[in-house]
Amino acid sequence: MAVLVTGGAGYIGSHTVAELLARGEEVVVADNLQQGHRQAVLGGKLYEGDIRDAAFMDRVFQENRIDAVIHFAAHSLVGESMQNPAKYYHNNVYGTLCLLEKMNEYGVKKIVFSSTAATYGEPENVPIVESDRTLPTNAYGETKLAMEKMMRWFDTAHGIKYVSLRYFNAAGAHESGRIGEDHKPETHLIPIILQVALNQRPHISIFGDDYATPDGTCIRDYIHVTDLSDAHILAVEKLRGGGESSIYNLGNGKGFSVKEVIEIARRVTGHPIPAVMEARRTGDPAILVASSERTRAELGWKPRRDSLEQIIESAWTWHQSHPAGYAD
Ligand code: UFG
Repeated sequence: MAVLVTGGAGYIGSHTVAELLARGEEVVVADNLQQGHRQAVLGGKLYEGDIRDAAFMDRVFQENRIDAVIHFAAHSLVGESMQNPAKYYHNNVYGTLCLLEKMNEYGVKKIVFSSTAATYGEPENVPIVESDRTLPTNAYGETKLAMEKMMRWFDTAHGIKYVSLRYFNAAGAHESGRIGEDHKPETHLIPIILQVALNQRPHISIFGDDYATPDGTCIRDYIHVTDLSDAHILAVEKLRGGGESSIYNLGNGKGFSVKEVIEIARRVTGHPIPAVMEARRTGDPAILVASSERTRAELGWKPRRDSLEQIIESAWTWHQSHPAGYAD
């Protein structure tokens, strides 16, 4: 049986495809290649098309024996979602509805979902546990929460079991050096810092230093992309073993401020990385740090690349060998 990976040509999707292939899984990727890169898919069968295209999805399900789906295909930028929420509702919410309807039509009853810490909004507790209040502060998080809720009702009505993985901040690159992070435009903190270290940008802009944190800059929990991939594979195994639907956080449980991330990147790269203070970006919560205790206990997940130095080093290796991303 094959695993269908929607958005498998994207950053986290492609790393998960690599790990599935390493475990001998049969992999089918569906990606519209709007954000994804053909070269990022290291194996399996790639179908180029959109999950909202019913005829396209019929072809994917009819030509393969799929028993589980890992669903990455979505837009994922907090800032952009505040400018253009319709884009997020259309691709994320309506796209997931189309996918679930097709899964139901073809009798595919297992889905692992790429969710986010942005579902929580400003946290009630630090670190955040899965039962905490979900009150997103941005449209992106709101759409991911709607997608999770949709899956819950498809489970109730049709027995489609889901594992929703709420990631904190994905970073780093695959140890093979062949795949890494390449967004156009890039908006994420660590790749932008590394572009400064490559002299592709003059400085890093820090979006706000008046948050209620020790140094005033936002705190995030950075997690290595391969550790995220491992969790997806454990989640597929759980569902194949008859596991119930569940929601899990994925983070290292340790927060770093924007200023601390820049400081570590200065040490890793040996570049001064000039920083300039700017206004807050709308929609950013001050602190997002995960408790992944439930994930460890129930999925048996253990992050193995959990120091921020290590994470930034792996990203730095990729950025140095691919200064223009996949265009190199
Ligand atoms: N930041 C800067 N300057 C930049 C870029 C980012 O100061 O040039 C700051 C942001 O304001 C934020 C932090 O660095 O405080 C991290 O920003 P990112 O854009 O790298 O990541 P986000 O925390 O906004 O969002 C990421 C993913 C989301 C996911 C979220 C979960 O993009 O999909 O992590 O924590 F939901």
